[in-house]
Amino acid sequence: MAILPIIEAPDQSLRTLSQPVEKVDDDLRRLMDNMLETMYTAPGIGLAAIQVGVPKRVIVMDLSHDEDGPAPRHFINPEILWTSEDLANYNEGCLSVPEHYADVERPAQCRVRYLDYEGEIREEEMDGLLATCFQHEMDHLNGILFIDHLSSLKRQIILKKLRKAQKAEATA
Ligand code: NI
Repeated sequence: MAILPIIEAPDQSLRTLSQPVEKVDDDLRRLMDNMLETMYTAPGIGLAAIQVGVPKRVIVMDLSHDEDGPAPRHFINPEILWTSEDLANYNEGCLSVPEHYADVERPAQCRVRYLDYEGEIREEEMDGLLATCFQHEMDHLNGILFIDHLSSLKRQIILKKLRKAQKAEATA
């Protein structure tokens, strides 16, 4: 397995519309294994393929706590079939927006369809952190970041700080 570099905002490649996967094969499974290793190392709880520069509709997640052991999840060509009217508020972060967190309101529950690691079609009801994280990662596949859900002022402040931190890192 390999740890892949994570692309950070405001890199425009994060704005790419990711394309559906045509075949769930060993190459795709290798990509997902590498994405999970990258995510665990970061550490984070979710990662979309575009965050490692691959514009495919692929998400990996693991919401387990360390003491339970790992519980990797793989979502290929995910779709949101239904979202609830009730909303939930979570303090979100993102590996592509490092060290910034903000409250984002999203539907509290959703029903989703996807292909799993073996390429089997699955449907699932989600709520709580799972529903939030899934919707956050789905956004990535459509070129959307959690900061896009904030006011323009808040977003600009975060982007300015990110650019400043990246500049400092580049010259260090
Ligand atoms: Ni993210």
